[in-house]
Amino acid sequence: MQLTRELLLLPLLYLLALALPGAVGGSGRFWHLTDLHWDPGYEAAAAAGRPCPSGGGRAGPAGPWGSYLCDSPRRLLRSAARAMRHRLAAPDFVLWTGDDTPHVPNEELGEEKVLHIIANLTSLIKETFPGTKVYAAMGNHDFHPKNQFPGKEHRIYKQTAELWRPWLSDASLPLFRAGAFYSEKLPGPGMRGRMVVLNTNLYYDQDNETAGEEDPGGQFQWLEETLTNASRADEMVYILGHVPPGFFEKKRGKPWFRRDFNERYLGIVQKHHSVIAAQFFGHHHTDSFRMFYSPTGTPINVMFLAPGVTPWKTTLPGVSNGANNPAIRVVSYDQDTLQVLDMVTYYLNLTRANKMASAGQEEFPEWEEEYRLTEAFQVPDGSARSMQTVLQRLSRDPHYLQLYYEFNSARYDLEPCQQECRVDHLCAIREVDYIKYDECVKTNSSASAASSVWLLVFCMFLGFLSPQRVL
Ligand SMILES: *[C@@H]1O[C@H](CO)[C@@H](O)[C@H](O)[C@H]1NC(C)=O
Ligand SMILES: *[C@@H]1O[C@H](CO)[C@@H](O)[C@H](O)[C@H]1NC(C)=O
Ligand SMILES: *[C@@H]1O[C@H](CO)[C@@H](O)[C@H](O)[C@H]1NC(C)=O
Ligand SMILES: *[C@@H]1O[C@H](CO)[C@@H](O)[C@H](O)[C@H]1NC(C)=O
Ligand SMILES: [Zn+2]
Ligand SMILES: [Zn+2]
Repeated sequence: MQLTRELLLLPLLYLLALALPGAVGGSGRFWHLTDLHWDPGYEAAAAAGRPCPSGGGRAGPAGPWGSYLCDSPRRLLRSAARAMRHRLAAPDFVLWTGDDTPHVPNEELGEEKVLHIIANLTSLIKETFPGTKVYAAMGNHDFHPKNQFPGKEHRIYKQTAELWRPWLSDASLPLFRAGAFYSEKLPGPGMRGRMVVLNTNLYYDQDNETAGEEDPGGQFQWLEETLTNASRADEMVYILGHVPPGFFEKKRGKPWFRRDFNERYLGIVQKHHSVIAAQFFGHHHTDSFRMFYSPTGTPINVMFLAPGVTPWKTTLPGVSNGANNPAIRVVSYDQDTLQVLDMVTYYLNLTRANKMASAGQEEFPEWEEEYRLTEAFQVPDGSARSMQTVLQRLSRDPHYLQLYYEFNSARYDLEPCQQECRVDHLCAIREVDYIKYDECVKTNSSASAASSVWLLVFCMFLGFLSPQRVL
């Protein structure tokens, strides 16, 4: 009798918990989309049989849904918007981490054209998620001349603030005009979450406007104050930005931030990590993550780098075959603590989409589920601790490393990731610090070189005894 009553009560309690998500820390979901890089000249060029403007003279087949050598045609962006509405039409909010314009020389753009493109993509996102709060960060391509962001008021900041006005609070507006960064409390009853949106383009080593400055725009000081205030108010924050600190996993020794800025950013995360639930960045166009450690080596924070919508193959010297399939991502999180619970990434197989189109099939191609973080890597959630476990799996088990590597380009590059590739990815994930990254690359390169010599000797010595163990 007793047992039966409890069994009846349990589902009731469960339903009650679902009905009061704010009060008991329910889970919510949001989109992270980044690096749309619209190429407005794509269709006209394709129709005229010319290479796309963003291809940099690289001629290639220009499919109806896009090309790996080009930025996004309008059709690809519309397809992404449609896929988002189909998969999750009513997210709690949307993160949009910038880079809207095509990879073309400054001479082919201009302030008005850049603003026009930002305006157009802003409309697209507004139409896709009417009435939804969007947290938008500027990317290094959302300026003219590109990358040249000043740490003070600028017409482009003011115009962008106007475009994003429906998404900004009154308090954010003047901040945005002065430096394109701001912070706001997350929407929803009883929420103790805060979104901190940064303009890390100020730290990019290509930005001549801020070279030699100690704290461009006063953003570092503002960030420290914001995090200190958050701690006092018992809030948890997400940090959002475009250009990430640390190193590019597809090119050895390639950082984005200037050295001093990198150090300062890392110091701030170490000092204030207890209020930072996670960090979300873009710019790489690839799917990866970055670990942050305390000075004693405890994992204290994680930054998720979301894959881009543009498939554009990078022209960065030293990167081989750096294209990707278009991808978008849903993050599930705990609405009370902001703990990342899971992430589902969706991608468009561009080769397949174009093939189907030329065979006269599918008005809109399907964006398939690529993977679910907890399932693919066998971890309970997306906390720093769990992501440290993921990193350990990647380091120790070639099966997991290969899985990660295929996700890195949203399944565009399916080649095996071995030796140098392995070191580049693992060191970039593990070490955001300049010195530690160099050490990681050095020790692991020599260690792997030394161990392969050792392995060779070992195999020659023992190989005939137990050849099946050699792998
Ligand atoms: C954005 O650009 C597309 C393609 O040129 C156009 O059809 C659309 O009307 C534009 N939207 C806005 C709001 O300007
Ligand atoms: C930035 O400065 C470097 C070094 O002085 C120079 O080569 C480059 O052309 C500058 N870039 C811009 C966009 O002004
Ligand atoms: C931090 O809180 C203090 C006291 O309420 C306030 O004056 C200050 O403007 C806040 N700083 C930021 C960056 O929000
Ligand atoms: C993408 O589609 C192409 C063409 O149908 C196919 O050969 C390829 O295996 C697909 N890629 C993935 C990761 O499924
Ligand atoms: Zn980009
Ligand atoms: Zn970028």
